[in-house]
Parts: sequence; structure tokens; C-alpha cells
Amino acid sequence: MGAIPRIQDFDDAAYDPFVSDEAAFGDCIDPYLRLAEWREQGPVHKMDYRAAMGLYPDVTMAGLEHYLVLGYDATEKIFLDPVTFSNKTYARNLGISFGRSVSTMDAPEHSRFRKIFQKAFLPNVVAKWGDTLVDPVVQGLMDQFSARGKADLVQEFTHHYPFHIIYRQLNLPPDDVKVFHKLAIAQTVVMYDVPHGTEASRKLGLYFKNLLDERRRNPGDDLVSLLALAEADGEQLPEEILVSFLRQLVNAGGDTTYRATSVLLTGLLSNPDQLDAVRQDRSLIPQAIEEALRWDGPVLIATRTPTVDTELCGVKLPAGACLSVASGSANRDPSRFENPDRFDIFRKKQRNFGFAFGPHVCIGQHLARIEMTRALNAILDRLKNIRLDPALPAPVIQGTMMRVPKHIHVLFD
Ligand code: HEM
Repeated sequence: MGAIPRIQDFDDAAYDPFVSDEAAFGDCIDPYLRLAEWREQGPVHKMDYRAAMGLYPDVTMAGLEHYLVLGYDATEKIFLDPVTFSNKTYARNLGISFGRSVSTMDAPEHSRFRKIFQKAFLPNVVAKWGDTLVDPVVQGLMDQFSARGKADLVQEFTHHYPFHIIYRQLNLPPDDVKVFHKLAIAQTVVMYDVPHGTEASRKLGLYFKNLLDERRRNPGDDLVSLLALAEADGEQLPEEILVSFLRQLVNAGGDTTYRATSVLLTGLLSNPDQLDAVRQDRSLIPQAIEEALRWDGPVLIATRTPTVDTELCGVKLPAGACLSVASGSANRDPSRFENPDRFDIFRKKQRNFGFAFGPHVCIGQHLARIEMTRALNAILDRLKNIRLDPALPAPVIQGTMMRVPKHIHVLFD
């Protein structure tokens, strides 16, 4: 590990991408009200979601026609038809920072590389991480506040734990975790702040390139070594593809799970009867997680582009247009979900699009479920009688593109 140069912080080391979250992803508290009004008028609209919500324009999509997809069936159709609805649109924004990551690819390239990467995140593989990686991180963070009787679960726990887990799995230098976390996050604020996004991309890229060389020379049992030596059709994976995947991994592995865990805790703590039910019967945890992803999943909008002129639900979509696919709206479509705005862990089982669906469905979903399960179990085991602190503001989930509460103030015995 010592054989390669250390990761470089931003030139302006005081730059903090976490404070850009609201500016980059919007601060709307209830986008669902407007989404529901539009959805009632039809499942697909010629409309620029960002502009309609008062968010700064995504300059990487300038000049494109914009459409918004709101209904469950239309969303499912898009996710299941990657030939007509391409992922290439992500090359314009996320591609600036991640590079050629799987999110920016279509088949056959996508299938070829995804097949390899997916192997490292299959349920039987990540199940082993529960004891070795997830629990030590979760317990270590909780040690710092579990005797205090009060905590801010976002600032002291959810914000950190998933990043620390992926960080350990990649076996990166413990002293540099803060710098890596900042660089990882700055990659997705690239649409708002191109200079810092590209600086993060460049610094992570250089580091990962050296790291891959080093781990090929001295492989360990970590994920970087595994990927560095993985082969597609008898050949090692191209360096550019590996580096791009690692850039995406440090971002996706930390950010979305932090958001989803915070939403899960908000849903449960704001509905003490449901929290109590889960406390008594831990076998309810999987359905509580699914409900959190449906009710207020972190990724409100996915993006696709039609490869040919086509039509969806009677609306003509030109090739090359920018489609904002509002998974968050599909997940609250009343034609599928009764009383959709209510957080209800006992609702009838039904697929939601919190992890998307189809060939680009989240690679990390099994890991995310393990992380959230272990985190919630630890919270219920160690923070007795956990409840919202009535003296401090209740958690408020916000965001126009990505969702998360900034604070969850709790008391416990
Ligand atoms: C609860 C936590 C998470 C949520 C809600 C989430 C959500 C998503 C969604 C919605 C997509 C599809 C985006 C699209 O196609 O437009 C996606 C893709 C992806 N996610 Fe996650 N994610 C989570 C956790 C993770 C974790 C822990 C990892 C890795 C360790 C990860 C890695 C990826 C990757 C690599 C892709 C790209 C897959 C592809 O395009 O083939 N995610 N995620």
C-alpha cells in the first residue's frame, strides 16, 4: 500500500462537497405533490422537470428536448427496453466524472462488463461481508454515542457507515478516508460544479490507476485485487473501465445507502407503532427497507434517451431527447399503491423502482440491504427505547433529484 503516491486532496483543501448537496440536488421538501398533479393529467409529459421545479439547468443537457415520465407502467416499460431507451445520456453528465462507467453504457458493452462486476456483489458474496465488514463499522460508530442518551443519527452515523464499509472492502489507507469521501461525493455534484467534479475525477483516476498496478503485483483478498485480476473473454479488463467502475463505486457505495438508511429511520421513527412492530419482530426488517425505498427512495429521477423516434402512452418521443424517469413518482402511482403517500411497512408486496429495474438495476442492492439490516438491528439492540427528540426539529426529508434528511435527532435510554 505504501508503494504508491498518496491520494491528493482538492487544491483548495477547505472545499466541502457535502455543503453543495442542497444546491446540487435541490431542497424541495415535497416534490410528490406536484408529481401527483402532473401524473393525474397523464403518465408522460413534454416538460423539463428541473426547470419546472426551479432547479438550475443541467448544462450538460442543454439544447435537448425534455420529457418527464411519471406513471408506473411507463417507467417499467422504459427500464425493460434498453434498446429503445438508452443509458448513453449519462455519458453527458456522470460520464464527466466517472468516465466510462457501466451506467453510461448500453448492450453489448454493458452486458460484457456488468457480468464481471456483478460477480463481486452477488448475494452469497456480500452476505459474508455482514460479519467481517459491516458489523465492525456499524458497532465502531455507535460506540461513540451509544452511552450518551442522545444523538443525531445522520451526522453521527448514517452519513459515515456505508462509505467506511466500501472503503474497507477496497482496502484503502485508513488515514485518508476523509479525503476519499470528499472526492467521491464531488463526482456527483459535477452537474452543478464542473471544476470540482473534474478535479475529483482526475485525482481519483490517477490514484486508482496506480493502485490497480500495485494490487496486480501484490494481490490481496480485497475488491480492488479481485477486479484488477478479473477477466472478460480471457482478457483482463481495460484499465479505463476498471478505473471508472472504482470511481462510481466509491460514490454509489457510500452515498445512496446513507440516504436510504436515513429515510428508513425517518419513516420508522415518525411512525412509532411501526417502529415498535419491527423492534418486536425483526423479520419485518426486509419489508420495512422495501417500503422506505418505495416511499421516498433516494434516487427520485433516472435518465434515459430514446435511440429512435418512438411513442410512449400516446406521447411522441424524438430520438436523442432527455427523458427524466421519475421512479419516485412511479413508486407513488395510486394505480399500483393504495394510499401511496403513507409510509406503511405492512402494505401488499409489489415491485418498486427504488433500485431501478431491468439490465441497469442497482449492482449494490444486496449489499445495501445487508448494510441497512445490520444498521437497523444494531440501533434497535443498542439504543433502547429510541425515539425522536421532542426538543429538536423533527427530521425533514428533502431534495428535488436525490432525497435525504439532514438530521435525525433522537433520544434513548
Ligand atoms: C439503498 C442504496 C442504493 C440505492 C437506492 C441505489 C440506487 C440505484 C439506482 C436507482 C440505480 C440505477 C440508475 C439508473 O439506471 O438510472 C443504481 C445503479 C447502480 N448502483 Fe446503486 N443504489 C444503492 C446502493 C448501491 C451500492 C451499495 C453500490 C455499490 C457498492 C451501488 C452501485 C451501483 C452501480 C455500480 C450501479 C450501475 C449499474 C448499471 O448501470 O448496470 N449502489 N443504483
